[in-house]
Amino acid sequence: VRRPLILAIESSCDETAAAVIDGGEVLRSDVVATQVDFHARFGGVVPEIASRKHIEAICGVCDEALDVAAASLGRSRLRWRDLDAAAVTYAPGLVGALVVGVAFAKGAAWGADIPFIVVNHLEGHLYANKIGRPDFAPPAVVSLVSGGNTLLVHMADWGDYRVLGATIDDAVGEAFDKVAKALGLGYPGGPVVSKFAAEGDPDAIPFPRAMLHSGDLRFSLSGLKTAVVTYINNERAAGRELNVPDICASFTAAVVDVQVAKARTALRETGAPTFCLGGGVAANPTLRAAYEQMCAEEGVRLVMPPLASCGDNAGMIAEVALDRYRAGAFSPLSTDALAHGDL
Ligand code: KG4
Repeated sequence: VRRPLILAIESSCDETAAAVIDGGEVLRSDVVATQVDFHARFGGVVPEIASRKHIEAICGVCDEALDVAAASLGRSRLRWRDLDAAAVTYAPGLVGALVVGVAFAKGAAWGADIPFIVVNHLEGHLYANKIGRPDFAPPAVVSLVSGGNTLLVHMADWGDYRVLGATIDDAVGEAFDKVAKALGLGYPGGPVVSKFAAEGDPDAIPFPRAMLHSGDLRFSLSGLKTAVVTYINNERAAGRELNVPDICASFTAAVVDVQVAKARTALRETGAPTFCLGGGVAANPTLRAAYEQMCAEEGVRLVMPPLASCGDNAGMIAEVALDRYRAGAFSPLSTDALAHGDL
């Protein structure tokens, strides 16, 4: 096996994840335990529940990551002291969730006497493009769209990032979740809204394309969410039956139009030859199809990570950690988890 061997942990939101990477950039394991079912009945992620579930899951998830990696390496077992570093997401995210992974990784690093490496979650999403695509390299424009983030990033090089624009209020995934909640479709909203949208008419209801002509690369989703909720309330008040597929398709079209227009502008402004996607919303089929068309029109290469690598995972954190290890960028055990953390 090529050294170093690094275990990385991710616990920034509602996924407890651990992965082992080796010096040949091979992910020897990539384990994710999702808590989504525990949050579903509340219609969104409940921070206190997330923290408690991370505590329950983290030992088992790390053990599994070590066992799967051992099997992949042809060893009977892998122990913490067989590793060269322990890495963890330290920001941004739910601080009470992050702190579980951070404390656990610190304990492992201290106990096994190996270096401790901290990784920014958003940088992890950029590195997710490497998973299954070893040929991927910057420069690129990346759209990160999840339950907590909505931003466009220019990656000039590994480690050289510029945020071109971000949401000024809600994240895209959050808007999907709130629309689903208003329609009584459960949580998370993205997958179920996508399913209904496939059967609806995207032109049925003219929902607002917020900030489409704002002249910058920022986004706003809260007005769209309010417009959809108001529409639903008005229809109900008038005693009309809701056309759920049309609402979902029209809402999705409003989101996608703005996302694609701003991504196109970002590509033209930066001249980047590659466009990438990250975050849970990257699973949306309408969005993916629209990006395929836009990239073909612009003559830009489109890189979409595997769906499992779009959502939160530790494989992407391990990819960043390997670069940090090679650069000798280790962190003191006094490093804290942070709710906010710029790229
Ligand atoms: O990256 P992710 O797994 O983690 C968090 O940010 O927590 O993203 C989850 C978000 C949720 O808001 C979910 O509704 C959204 O991604 N999502 C989707 C789809 N699948 C998941 N949004 C739109 N279309 C989808 N198919």
